[in-house]
Amino acid sequence: MHRLFVAIRPPGPIRDLLVDAMDDSPELRWVSDENLHLTLRFIGEVDRTVAEDVATLLDQIRFPAFSLRIGRAGRFDRRNGGAIWASVEPRDQVILLAAKIDRACVLAGLEAERRAFHPHITLARYGRSSGEAGASFERRNAALSSEPFQVDRFILFESHLSRHGPHYEAKKTYTLS
Ligand code: 2AM
Repeated sequence: MHRLFVAIRPPGPIRDLLVDAMDDSPELRWVSDENLHLTLRFIGEVDRTVAEDVATLLDQIRFPAFSLRIGRAGRFDRRNGGAIWASVEPRDQVILLAAKIDRACVLAGLEAERRAFHPHITLARYGRSSGEAGASFERRNAALSSEPFQVDRFILFESHLSRHGPHYEAKKTYTLS
C-alpha cells in the first residue's frame, strides 16, 4: 500500500522565513525544512492500481500558475494535541485547485473529501497538555507574512512513516501554466 497526499512545496526563501519563525519552545515538535508543505488533498493508503490512476488523472488537470503569500499563524487545537501553522493568502485559487484535485481523486475511485479545506502549512505539532505553547506561538506570529511567491507546480507525495517521523517522497510533479 502507498500512503499518498498532494501538496505544494513552498520555495526556499519562503521555507527560510517559516524556519526562522520556529523557536525553541520545548513543547512544540517542529516540522523540518524538507517536510514543509501545503497539503491540497490527503489521499491516505491506496494500492498500486489506484495510485497509478490518481497519478494519471492528476496529469490531466489544467490550471494556471498563481501566487500566494504567507499570512498570520494559526492553530488547530484538538483534544489530544494540536498543530500550529502558517496561513496563506489569497485563498481563492488554492481552493479551486484543491477542488480540481479532489475531482481527479474521485474519478480515480476515491471518496470525495468531506472535510472543509483550510489551506495551511503545518509548522509544528504539540501534545495534549501543550495548548498554551501553541496559543502563545499563534499570538507571537499574528503578523507573520511574506512576499508573494509563484505556485507553478504541485506534487504527489508518498509518506513513509517511521519512528524517526515521516519522510515525504516526491513521486510526481505536475506543472501549472
Ligand atoms: P497537516 O499538515 O494538517 O498535518 C501528510 O500526512 C499531510 O497530509 C499532512 O500535511 C497532513 O496535514 C495532511 N493530512 C490531512 N488529513 C490527514 C489525515 N487524516 N491523516 C494524516 N495526514 C493528513
